[in-house]
Amino acid sequence: MAKPVTFDRLARVYRPLEWIAFGRTLERARTAHLDALADARRALVIGDGDGRALARLLRIAPCASVHAIDTSAAMLERAASRLDDADRHRVTFEQADVRTFVARGPYDAITTLFVLDCLTSSDAAAVVARLSAELTPGGCWLWADFVEPPTGWRRLRARLLLRFLYWFFRMTTNLQVREVPPAEQLLDAAGLEAVAVTELEQGLIRSVLFRRPAAR
Ligand SMILES: C[S@@+](CC[C@H](N)C(=O)[O-])C[C@H]1O[C@@H](n2cnc3c(N)ncnc32)[C@H](O)[C@@H]1O
Repeated sequence: MAKPVTFDRLARVYRPLEWIAFGRTLERARTAHLDALADARRALVIGDGDGRALARLLRIAPCASVHAIDTSAAMLERAASRLDDADRHRVTFEQADVRTFVARGPYDAITTLFVLDCLTSSDAAAVVARLSAELTPGGCWLWADFVEPPTGWRRLRARLLLRFLYWFFRMTTNLQVREVPPAEQLLDAAGLEAVAVTELEQGLIRSVLFRRPAAR
């Protein structure tokens, strides 16, 4: 039987490892458009890991109640421990797989920050199709991830780095995914509009705020 994927072993070391590998770049990607969720009232936070973006979202969006799911119990514990009591009461933590969990929408904000890259393209497509339907008109989907730029040395550099990262996660979490899904195309195909884009590290990392067009 295939070994289960779990990020539990990384929960404690995730932040220092990230800092050693990328400095503040991933944090910049996570927070580039987070302020746009300030008016959120019902947010779905998927695979936020140790909870840094979740904590910041709760500060930015004082009226938001949040459904936070992650497959890793250790990551969820770490995320919860980051919050004070008042903020923790605004969050429903659920140990669940984004591919199969029961959504409690509608949501007016969804975040997938460095998590869709843990899914195969077909799983990512199914997740985006299913969850985009839970987004209210005018609601936001904040996405950030590594991408493969289309051509040239940037593409080569991204391929080498992604190969290394997927090898690392295969060793430490048993993740079997080997390439980033075309998340932006999937979100676009689901009818969401990219309204703000930040590109970092010469196109290696992108952070995009998508919005469901308001109903006419
Ligand atoms: C690469 S880490 C990224 C963590 C954080 N979002 C960040 O910005 O660094 C991926 C996180 O998503 C979770 N995860 C991976 N696959 C998942 C899935 N299928 N469903 C829910 N969570 C998942 C992992 O447990 C981990 O906490």
